[in-house]
Amino acid sequence: MSNRKKEVLHAVNNQESTPTTPKKMIAICSAIGGTGRTTVTVNLASIFAKRGLDVSVMDADRQFGDISLAMDLDPVYTMKDFAMAGKGADVTNYCTIHKNGVQVLPAPERPEYAELISTELLEFMWSSLHEVSDVLLVETSSGLYDQSLQLMEQADHILLVTTGGMAALKNTRLMIETIEALDLKNKVSVIMNQSPAPSVIKPSEIANLLATDSIYELPYDIKRIPLSFDNGTPIVDSIPTCEFSKKIMTIADHLVSNNRLEKQSGNTVLQRLKGLRGKKHELISKASIKEPEGEHT
Ligand SMILES: Nc1ncnc2c1ncn2[C@@H]1O[C@H](COP(=O)(O)OP(=O)(O)O)[C@@H](O)[C@H]1O
Ligand SMILES: [Mg+2]
Repeated sequence: MSNRKKEVLHAVNNQESTPTTPKKMIAICSAIGGTGRTTVTVNLASIFAKRGLDVSVMDADRQFGDISLAMDLDPVYTMKDFAMAGKGADVTNYCTIHKNGVQVLPAPERPEYAELISTELLEFMWSSLHEVSDVLLVETSSGLYDQSLQLMEQADHILLVTTGGMAALKNTRLMIETIEALDLKNKVSVIMNQSPAPSVIKPSEIANLLATDSIYELPYDIKRIPLSFDNGTPIVDSIPTCEFSKKIMTIADHLVSNNRLEKQSGNTVLQRLKGLRGKKHELISKASIKEPEGEHT
């Protein structure tokens, strides 16, 4: 082959291997448990895989992670085995590949192993997976902890999943206020799942209540979603035409086409959180969720 031909071939190959989509790390979080993080995670993962992207899912709900269950996986290894092996090991060797191509790093099989997984190790694992994936989805445990804050700081998008119940909304609002105080709110989208869930709050009041206009709704589908979860098949695979599947595909479109990435510089998120303690932001009262729009700073 002539040198010229080799050059052209090299250029074409390089062009083909250049990803058209920037690498994305998406954190799937919630203030309280049971809102639908796992459901959202496995369905988004499947959509992205169908679109030809290299997708990884990390189950960082260290005590009660359900990703393997929701994807009908029977993993040989989990992140606990990686923790035992140490950072010299290749984290992808501890993943299980689903038939749809999604690479999953499962949570430990028992809650007592969670303490083996430090925040530092979690960060190492998601950074390693981020490097080898077009899209990395990380489901966190519910609530605000060191590891979820660290992840939120490094992620390109933060999906806050809530339902319409009063407790879920109140705690989601508190979580958004904390995220805002840490200058991370520009990355947050709320997913209002199981909508319209039985609630005293009117759907029209939700954006005001949560102090954000970046909200997606996913419909309540009591017959089909729990069944798909229990069967271990994401509903976007089994019933791609149902309302839930269509709506979550729209969310997926937004996530890959709208990069609202703005990495923070300066102090780490944990330093900033410590700086908040004892300040006005810390005093988030239940009454504050009744503030009308415009008065919230
Ligand atoms: N939109 C929905 N409609 C009906 N049931 C849902 C919906 N989203 C989630 N569920 C069900 O709610 C339960 C909790 O969902 P899950 O995704 O495990 O929440 P989390 O990961 O936040 O704890 C599961 O049984 C799931 O099937
Ligand atoms: Mg879960």
